[in-house]
Amino acid sequence: MSELSDLKQHILELTRQYSRQAHGAFRPADDPQRLPWREGTPIPYAGRVFTEDEVAAAVSSILDFWLTLGSEGAAFEKELAAFLGVRHSLVVNSGSSANLIAISALTSAKLPQERRILPGDEVITVAAGFPTTVAPIVQVGAVPVFIDADPITGNARCDQLEAAYSTGKTKAVMMAHALGNPFDLATTLAFCRKYNLWLVEDNCDALGCSYSMPRELAERLGFTKNSPDLDEGPDRVIRWTGTWGDISTQSFYPPHHLTMGEGGAVNIVRDQKLKVIAESFRDWGRDCWCPSGVDNTCNKRFDWQLGELPAGYDHKYTYSHLGYNLKPLDPQAAIGRVQLQRLPEFIEARKQNWETLRRALAGHEAVLEFALPTHATSWSAEAGFSWDESGCRTDCSWFGFKIAVKSGAPFSRTELARELDAHAIGNRMLFGGNLLRQPAFVQLHQDRTDAPLVVGELPGSDEIMNSTLFLGTYPGLTEQMLSAEIAVISNFASTRMAK
Ligand SMILES: Cc1ncc(COP(=O)(O)O)c(C=O)c1O
Repeated sequence: MSELSDLKQHILELTRQYSRQAHGAFRPADDPQRLPWREGTPIPYAGRVFTEDEVAAAVSSILDFWLTLGSEGAAFEKELAAFLGVRHSLVVNSGSSANLIAISALTSAKLPQERRILPGDEVITVAAGFPTTVAPIVQVGAVPVFIDADPITGNARCDQLEAAYSTGKTKAVMMAHALGNPFDLATTLAFCRKYNLWLVEDNCDALGCSYSMPRELAERLGFTKNSPDLDEGPDRVIRWTGTWGDISTQSFYPPHHLTMGEGGAVNIVRDQKLKVIAESFRDWGRDCWCPSGVDNTCNKRFDWQLGELPAGYDHKYTYSHLGYNLKPLDPQAAIGRVQLQRLPEFIEARKQNWETLRRALAGHEAVLEFALPTHATSWSAEAGFSWDESGCRTDCSWFGFKIAVKSGAPFSRTELARELDAHAIGNRMLFGGNLLRQPAFVQLHQDRTDAPLVVGELPGSDEIMNSTLFLGTYPGLTEQMLSAEIAVISNFASTRMAK
């Protein structure tokens, strides 16, 4: 045994040595051992940021060869839930799977009949964004009702929620915090409380973003406590995004705030029942809640009678939902646990990188429009953000640095994107733009005339699709990389303006 454990330690020491030599370019930007970026080499918009710690954790878990979700998965779930201050986090194999599980959970017959999402029921969502925030709504047989997005924040225009509501049909709101910018949670929560609707927060791009509101308003909406480690004094309640709704989701694909390669999570904010249901959808639809490799957690394995099964039929093979298998592997969770320890520093690095880009590009406001956090009304280098009258505030750990090319500018968004590409500077559009213009949604409309439904004309989503791109803010961006990006954009904008 001790020989084996010595052998494992030796392998892990070699692994660490290997990783230090092989992966120096992937260390956090401020790590002294980080390999310098060489001028002219690509600047990705995002990517894995890790050290030998993640590689050793993965190899250690592989050597144990449990493979399926096990002790690392269970520990990751506890640690993520503790970070967020939610009841449970379930680790899954992607953010898209997390969204599928979240909305599927709300269809369960274990929920009160009037709150279940049934085929034909409506779920309000936003037109601009990532497709798998919306696809699961259709996949469970519900009808997505699209409201528009605001081109400055990138978020849903929550003033349209009332227009999207349909008595007896609307059951939930499911929207993402766009590029790490929290949507207007105060308005959305008030709307959900008014009509007794579920709120699913797609928090895939926003782990580490927070939202705060005056205590009196928070208490009216049912919130008294801050999230762990957050505090804005006795008169306010501040919580992480992903902890205001009923369920929220995370993605751990490499561009996101932490990574395990592929991966995601479903956070159950309050209601224990939703945990059991979500877990069932993740784990084949089973009724049993035994962890992998365990047989009789309920101590009643052969004492149940459910459905039309004979009394005593094995609980392990009893299915209460039409589920999936959306679990990741245990080595992924092992990587995620190390990443979770880095999260506070990653969150800050993203804020810092956004600030660096914003300050350096401020001179180009005549042609470029920069994002504002929800509830902010303006930004200046001296005073930072000014805020609206709502009393609500957002603190963004940005997924990306959103830039829109203004309509009078002597160049288009696509020309700017080409220029960035020519200098190997990673840039992305705001995912699918106006999703309704994507082939899949055009087809959906042809196949199903009842879906999707749309509030108004969606000009904001079109504008995002036509004029916006974003740069990275990820914690692997060094000062030199940011300076190179700034120089390319500044030169391009100035040269075009001078023509
Ligand atoms: C808002 C949002 N939701 C969901 C997803 C899907 O996550 P995944 O790629 O892990 O499936 C993404 C992906 O980037 C996203 O940006």
